[in-house]
Amino acid sequence: MTSQKPGGEREKVASKLPAALRQELKTRAAQLGIDMQVAVTQAVEQWRARPADSNPTIDTSGAESWNTHLPAGLYEAFKNDCDNRDGTSYVQGFAQAVRAWIDSHNVSLAELTIPRYTRRLVVCNQKGGVGKTTIAAGTGQAIALGLPATTGASKLPALPGLRTLLVDYDPQGHLTSQLGVKQIPPGEESLVTHMVDRDRVAGALLDQVVEIESDHFEGRLSLLPSSFDAFLLDSRLGSVRGPRETSLQRALAPLEEHFDVIVIDAPPNLGLAMDAGLYYGHRRKNEAAGASGVLVPVEAEDSSADAYAMLDSQIRTVSLDYEVDIDRLGLVVNKFDKRKGYVATHSLSEWESLGTPPVVAIVPDLKEQREAVHVKQPLLMYAPTSIQAQRMREIRRRLA
Ligand SMILES: Nc1ncnc2c1ncn2[C@@H]1O[C@H](COP(=O)(O)OP(=O)(O)OP(=O)(O)O)[C@@H](O)[C@H]1O
Ligand SMILES: [Mg+2]
Repeated sequence: MTSQKPGGEREKVASKLPAALRQELKTRAAQLGIDMQVAVTQAVEQWRARPADSNPTIDTSGAESWNTHLPAGLYEAFKNDCDNRDGTSYVQGFAQAVRAWIDSHNVSLAELTIPRYTRRLVVCNQKGGVGKTTIAAGTGQAIALGLPATTGASKLPALPGLRTLLVDYDPQGHLTSQLGVKQIPPGEESLVTHMVDRDRVAGALLDQVVEIESDHFEGRLSLLPSSFDAFLLDSRLGSVRGPRETSLQRALAPLEEHFDVIVIDAPPNLGLAMDAGLYYGHRRKNEAAGASGVLVPVEAEDSSADAYAMLDSQIRTVSLDYEVDIDRLGLVVNKFDKRKGYVATHSLSEWESLGTPPVVAIVPDLKEQREAVHVKQPLLMYAPTSIQAQRMREIRRRLA
């Protein structure tokens, strides 16, 4: 199935690929600083140029839906080749192409794109209550903890725990209170004062960063709490000297060297502060595609689709206005409950059929999340074996 993309030069292709292979492709492309679409195009073109018998069969059992974009006409030509190669299935053909591309793009240490930037994840959706705070907190915890290697069919490598800063960018201060931390009182140094006043002493904001439960996270998880005056941010940004969209980036810049990853828990609106939040997630010069960007929690219901369309258009506007790329890292379908029937299952399949951004996790509506909030503990500490905690680790894995 294909559909034409605006601009006409590439077409969307819906196929399937084993999850581990897709992950390997994504990692290798990122390591080499190559755009995924370019990597897949090269893979298909190289596959077409090779003799049929030079492609070993790949195990494609458990292949998952996968969307990509190819130059117009390439998919048709590829399908013709598959038909002419003893009816190789398209899924098998793709898997062979991707496998061979990865194998022919070995990464030497010298070639590795050293991540010069702290990765920035902006968890956003102007729709209220969809799970921004939950997903920001859970993903941040999983990043700080790291992941063990997986065994079985999908052998995935262990991922180290990284120094992670959660930023409570929402004046409601839910993330701050859920982690049992006090909001910053008015008049003190805060993200707001540093965003609106460029003459603040840079180090002063670092002093407000609070370390979370050092025993469990071994000192790798920290929080920049919300402040009481954050409600005034939008109106105060209106009178900021110099560019407003860079205000969050400017305020957080002195903190970046202390963290590997910064996760922003965004507020439920699309005001000036949110533009600065989206801008903060933009791809910086020479940064690998997909290293930073926006992660969007959504619900499996019709109103969520309308809200996402609005957010997507805002992301496009910020990208165009400031001439930056903002990578959409994925959707997290949160509070999923198939007992809600057709609306939930239909809506889930609609999210999945988008393909770009991919659904990186489906988080069920379960009690552990609310309980963790109630006892003011990080979810991955309160209920580390819960399905919700597993999903947070899945998101971390998909963002690797
Ligand atoms: N998967 C889940 N299962 C059960 N409860 C959940 C789940 N995800 C979130 N919740 C609960 O739903 C409520 C809203 O979630 P959350 O605060 O994360 O949403 P939000 O998008 O950050 O909201 P806001 O727009 O107000 O910032 C919270 O009480 C949270 O504990
Ligand atoms: Mg929230």
